[in-house]
Amino acid sequence: MDGQATGALERWREQLDGWAIPEEILAAAPESPWEFPVGLFRSRARRAGSQPATPSNLEAARFLPEGGTVLDVGAGGGAASLPLAGSAGRLVAVDESAGMVASFLDAAGQRGVAAEGVEGSWPEVAGRVGPADVVVCHHVLYNVADLAPFARALTGHARRRVVAELTERHPLVGLAPLWRRFHDLDRPTGPGAGDAVAALGALGLEVDRQDWEHQDRFGFDDFDELVAFTRRRLCLPARRDPEVAQALLEQGTHQVDGIWVSGQPRRVTTLSWPGTAA
Ligand SMILES: C[S@@+](CC[C@H](N)C(=O)[O-])C[C@H]1O[C@@H](n2cnc3c(N)ncnc32)[C@H](O)[C@@H]1O
Repeated sequence: MDGQATGALERWREQLDGWAIPEEILAAAPESPWEFPVGLFRSRARRAGSQPATPSNLEAARFLPEGGTVLDVGAGGGAASLPLAGSAGRLVAVDESAGMVASFLDAAGQRGVAAEGVEGSWPEVAGRVGPADVVVCHHVLYNVADLAPFARALTGHARRRVVAELTERHPLVGLAPLWRRFHDLDRPTGPGAGDAVAALGALGLEVDRQDWEHQDRFGFDDFDELVAFTRRRLCLPARRDPEVAQALLEQGTHQVDGIWVSGQPRRVTTLSWPGTAA
C-alpha cells in the first residue's frame, strides 16, 4: 500500500473517531447511546421482504447461483439477505447482538429458508464461519473504524461477490441540530460513501458503485419509540422525552406509510467487489 492509499484508510478511521461523545456527556447518559433497537430492524427486514428488489438486492442476485449460500454480516433482522431467500439455498447471519440473531432466525424460519445464526463481532468470529457464494453487509461500515481487517474478511469469505450498502452520508448527520439544541455541541459531517470507496480501493479492491434513493426509510411504527431511541442517542434521561418529542416535530418528523421518519428519502450507495474464497 502506498502513502496515498494508507491515507484513505486513516482518514476513514479519523472521521469515525470524530463521532466519539465527550466523556462528561457519556458519563451522565443513563443508557448506551450506541445500541441498535431490535424492533427497528425487525420491521425493516419485514418490509424488505415484501418490497420491489433494490439495486443492492439485484446486484447480489446477479452473482448468486440457484440454491447458493448468502452470508449476511451485521445482519440485524435480515433486511439484506431475506429478499434473496427465494433463490438462496441457505442464509447465514452474523451479528454481535443476540437479539438481532434471534430476530433473523425467526424471520428466516417463517420464510422456510435454511438459516444459521452466529452471534459475535466481525471479523473476530470469521474463523467460525464458512465461505458463501455472496456476502452482503448493509449499513454496518460506519460502525467499523478498523476497515481493513473487516473488509478483508468479507472478501475472503465470498466465492463470487461482496455487496455492501451504506447511506451516502453518515447516518447520524441528521441528528446534528438536536445535539446543538440539547448539548450545544457540533457534530462531524463525515465520513461519507466516497470515503468508503477510497478506503476500500486502498485495500486493492475493485469496487463498483451505484448511488440511488431508497424509498423505504429507517423509521419507527410508534412515535414514542422514535422519541426514546433519539433520547438515548442524545445521552438524555427519559424525563426529557417531551422536549425531544417537541424538537423532533419541530424539525419536520412526520409519518409516511405508517412509519415515523425524519427528513427526506435516504440517498443510498451500493458497493460491490469480487470475492476471493475458493
Ligand atoms: C444499522 S444495523 C443494520 C442491520 C441490517 N444489515 C439492515 O440493513 O437492516 C447494524 C447491525 O450491525 C451489527 N454490527 C455492527 N458492527 C458489527 C460487527 N463488527 N460485527 C457483527 N455485527 C455488527 C449491529 O448489531 C446491528 O445489528
